[in-house]
Amino acid sequence: MSYMRLTGYADKFGVHPGDTIKFYVNCNGPAEYKVEIVQIINGDTNPRGPGYIDKPIEASVNGTYKGRAQIIHGGSYGYVPDAKAFHVESFTLQCWIWPTAPKTHPRYWKHGAQGLVTKWSEDCGYGLFINEDGCLELRINEHRITTGVPVRDHAWHFCAATFDAATGDIVLYHEPQVVYALDPEIAPVETNLKVAIAHAPVPAALAAYVEKLAPEDPLARSSKPAGVVFAGKYNGKIDSPRICNRALSRAEIEMMKAGAQPGLTERRNSGPTGKLSECIVAAWNFSSGIDTLVCKDEGPYRFDAILVNCPNRGMTGYNWSGQNFDWKHAPQEYGAISFHDDDVDDARWFSDFEWTVPETGVKSRFYGAKLTTADGDEDFIPFWVVPRVGQETAKIAVMVPTISYMAYANEHVACNAGGAELFVYRVPIMQEQNMFLSEHREYGGSIYDTHTDGTGISISSRLRPILSIRPKYDHFLAQAPWQYPADLHLIYWLETMGYDYDVFTDEDITYDGLARIENYNVIITGSHPEHNSGAQLDALHNYTQRGGRLMYMGADAWYWVHSYHPGYAEKGRGIVTEMRRCESGIRTWRADPGEYYHQGTGELGGMWRFRGRYLHSVAGVGMSSEGFDVSSYFSRTPDSLDERVAWAFEGIGYDEKLGNFGLVGGGAAGLELDIVDTMLGSPPHTLAVATSAGRHTEAYLLVMEDFGFNQQGLDGTTHPRVRGDIAFHETPNGGGCFAFSSIAFCGSLPWNNCDNNISRLVKNVLDRFSMDGPLPAPPASAIKHRGRADYDPSPIEHQSRKARGEPLPA
Ligand SMILES: [Fe+2]
Repeated sequence: MSYMRLTGYADKFGVHPGDTIKFYVNCNGPAEYKVEIVQIINGDTNPRGPGYIDKPIEASVNGTYKGRAQIIHGGSYGYVPDAKAFHVESFTLQCWIWPTAPKTHPRYWKHGAQGLVTKWSEDCGYGLFINEDGCLELRINEHRITTGVPVRDHAWHFCAATFDAATGDIVLYHEPQVVYALDPEIAPVETNLKVAIAHAPVPAALAAYVEKLAPEDPLARSSKPAGVVFAGKYNGKIDSPRICNRALSRAEIEMMKAGAQPGLTERRNSGPTGKLSECIVAAWNFSSGIDTLVCKDEGPYRFDAILVNCPNRGMTGYNWSGQNFDWKHAPQEYGAISFHDDDVDDARWFSDFEWTVPETGVKSRFYGAKLTTADGDEDFIPFWVVPRVGQETAKIAVMVPTISYMAYANEHVACNAGGAELFVYRVPIMQEQNMFLSEHREYGGSIYDTHTDGTGISISSRLRPILSIRPKYDHFLAQAPWQYPADLHLIYWLETMGYDYDVFTDEDITYDGLARIENYNVIITGSHPEHNSGAQLDALHNYTQRGGRLMYMGADAWYWVHSYHPGYAEKGRGIVTEMRRCESGIRTWRADPGEYYHQGTGELGGMWRFRGRYLHSVAGVGMSSEGFDVSSYFSRTPDSLDERVAWAFEGIGYDEKLGNFGLVGGGAAGLELDIVDTMLGSPPHTLAVATSAGRHTEAYLLVMEDFGFNQQGLDGTTHPRVRGDIAFHETPNGGGCFAFSSIAFCGSLPWNNCDNNISRLVKNVLDRFSMDGPLPAPPASAIKHRGRADYDPSPIEHQSRKARGEPLPA
């Protein structure tokens, strides 16, 4: 295939003036490519809008570069560099396994044997494997000894193999933890092989084996360690792997399950018994250092294994009791690591060019390195120039929802989810990026996807090409831009309307806290800032409480708990984000019981709502429904006439349809919608100033966290909570929040060259929110006691009209 021959990424999302950003490019085919740094202004190719717009930037890095191919060595594993102690004559290998894809289809992308505990390469060495038929297999040099019994998927098994070089005796054990009636008994395989182990100078590997040493191969340089190519990436969990340097008896193997005893004193040996301590080569304890990328070896040689591509930790072990749900409180029950053959934490490519952003003259904006070839290949590597804290250059700032971009990074739902057509009420239309990613699983999926073995992806790295964070990319859900390219609708509008603004990313606010935002008069969000760190929500809360102004431009925000994995801190900020989908919320997969706590920070994952941070408390509204067929529009409510907020509607007639046009679904109210709900955190003085109540189809459904049992009437044609509410409330010290409550909303801004009533409304709000000093005080009559439960659940429009004694709309 000759598409997507250019892909790339940068080492940073946000770069400060004066700092350097590095770019990594895979140019697979063309001899050379051209680089231009551009300001990216619009990314939507919809012919009803302004089309793709960029602005070339004079940059020292612009020019033509020699092309070279770079590949991603995906799939997670652990390794220990070669060492003499691994060069055993006899051995015992043992571990617990919970495989998820022990037998794969011959057309599976990585069909073949999977390594468990190996010191083996190219028919030299020894190791425990699952072979391509899904059976446990011991390898000694070129010899294969198998049980011939398939290993059950999603079930714990104890596995062990012994080899006595003196006698040639071999025993291979395969012991399911749970035995069902009618399961055949699996006897240990005993055989004899007179052979001397030939030791290759390769690393010991966990969940993989070394395919070859290729120090001269340029494509092997992006493997870790560089020049060592691993294969046989295992799918599933491993717990308590051990290597001993003699053939243990079955009873000794049982004792060795306990592993090494940490700490040598006069009362303890390093092994379960004094005698067993002498034969330990390695005894890894995966329950130690769960928040790190190192597997602790508690044996005498301290062969700590380096983890590559961030497998899942904090996973329930073979001994999980079901009594503890937090790995921090019972680490001994969390001795499993879950490996996947499509994990990726860093493409580890070599840098092709780098740009030092000048100290002055380059505004804080959305940028990209535009890569092109003479043959028409094209890719963009997005980044943002972000001022240093204290060196803000504008009163307005756009908070770029980069955690949400990472959550959706390289999303495969359209290609992989059963029923994607039902979801969107049409045939999903793919982009070339979707096709490319389907063929290149090593580029990794999004947090909406499942791994190739069906388990949920909870880790996303930005050190890889992320083909969904691109201009000109339409998403199957919207059949329009989504996330990054959708947020460019807002950027195009800010540029067209002549506003000056800064940008910063979720990373910046997470790490810098309030200092990052406190000098701005107003913060503007993206269209769908769904995934957030706790530090970010803290900063936003402190900001609005101190008089800051927040314009929430979309919907379904502040929904999922995210954390950046601390194991990547030395590579920079925010490299890897983690999110676990737990017991509620709209989930494309569900974490297994006992696996709700993040491996990086140890915090409880899932929805912020179930951590006691209701979505509606951040900006006044919260997610209530979603649907992906067509968008609708908003109507003003009588609340919009309240003098506390009437200024926002200057120049807009009361009966105007607000946003019955737009580039996303044809209207301003669509895709995902938020509503006011004082019982879920909306401040009791929130004014719902416009609503789309009653204007959505049966494709729009109430969110599942809002109901306890299934019933008819949950869709947009019947349920009163299926609607979007545009809402305003004041915050203390002259601050305020305006929430526009629809993901499609920003798609209406560019309509008719930005001359429309959505544009007018947003301009009115932004002009007021960006003013210096506190917002004008509300009238004295607005100051009064309000209960939170004193809430009429009927649609806001009806409620307001009832309160004013007006007739209800037809
Ligand atoms: Fe979302």
